[in-house]
Amino acid sequence: MDISSIPSPCYVLEEAKLIDNLRLISSVQEQSGGHIILALKGFSMYKMFPLVKQYLSGATASSLNEARLIFEEMKCKAHTYAPVYKENEFDELMSYSSHITFNSLNQFERFKDKVAANKEHISMGLRINPQYAEVETDMYNPCIVGSRLGITREALGETLPEGIEGLHFHSLCENDSFVLERTLVHVEEKFGDLLHQVKWLNMGGGHLMTRSGYNIGHVAKQIERLRKTYNIEVILEPGSAIAWETGVLVSTVQDIVDAQGVNVAILDVSFAAHMPDTLEMPYKPRILGAYQTELPGKYNYRMGGTTCLAGDFMGDYAFDEPLKIGDKVIFDDMIHYTMVKTTTFNGVALPSIGVLSTNGEFELHKSFGYETFKEKL
Ligand SMILES: Cc1ncc(COP(=O)(O)O)c(C=O)c1O
Repeated sequence: MDISSIPSPCYVLEEAKLIDNLRLISSVQEQSGGHIILALKGFSMYKMFPLVKQYLSGATASSLNEARLIFEEMKCKAHTYAPVYKENEFDELMSYSSHITFNSLNQFERFKDKVAANKEHISMGLRINPQYAEVETDMYNPCIVGSRLGITREALGETLPEGIEGLHFHSLCENDSFVLERTLVHVEEKFGDLLHQVKWLNMGGGHLMTRSGYNIGHVAKQIERLRKTYNIEVILEPGSAIAWETGVLVSTVQDIVDAQGVNVAILDVSFAAHMPDTLEMPYKPRILGAYQTELPGKYNYRMGGTTCLAGDFMGDYAFDEPLKIGDKVIFDDMIHYTMVKTTTFNGVALPSIGVLSTNGEFELHKSFGYETFKEKL
């Protein structure tokens, strides 16, 4: 990659890597007969939607804005799910949606007549809570006790309400197909009778098919088994898997300070504003060419963010050579979730967005100025 042509900071998606991911995911569809759609909440870089659409069956939205983006830029209707829908947005939401999943029976009761009266058929579903998840961090676990996400078996009767054509569960997070298999034991134990009453089952996201070691044949077998056992359409809606390891966030060292014995390289990116997931999780992003920990005999640095938040830093990393002002620091795997979470916190400028094309050339797609910042206030 010729770094000098890329502005800093900038998210750089590598098209060839995205294509590799899409090909692999598409092979799961072919092997299993299931449908795999993109969850925009994890990757909504719409310039790439025409490419995504060549491989996947569509996309899922979690808000009116995402549904509209799918409709306008992917030229198809969205599978929509949100914990709540708003009365004043619902008519417009219906115009962009082929499927609408409700998080509670209250929400279904509130909006079902509107859906039934809509001139084009919209398939209605309910989100269920299998009360089983293998997710260690509570922040990402939709099945913790008291979770607002989905309806438990006790709350549903023996027959699904009239008009419901599908069920939806989402309880995986960066998991493999064996976690899915164990989850399905609980889903089928609790909801198996209801699966015979629907046309489709959406198994949410969290299927990290593009992580090395993921067993594609195993997931395909389960999708096929479900399709045949219940005579249903099976849908998966991963976000992370689509953009997993497809690009980087390029930043530049602006200053180096000695903070009471700690060497801090202050960058033109912010962990709080540009990479909030690194602080929320918390997880430590990889830096290309650096060791991910302090090491004796190496040049050790903490990476400082550009906002005034005291906790806006990430530590500590070791380098073979000392860092200098103007050096590039490149954070790896920053396309899924990070790009969508970037904000204008503290008024910092948003990173530009571009693509390293298959021909090796960098194409700048977007740069943001004051107007973007102002509009967000
Ligand atoms: C309902 C639903 N579907 C799909 C996804 C996408 O999950 P992932 O990006 O982990 O594949 C999420 C993530 O939170 C979700 O809540």
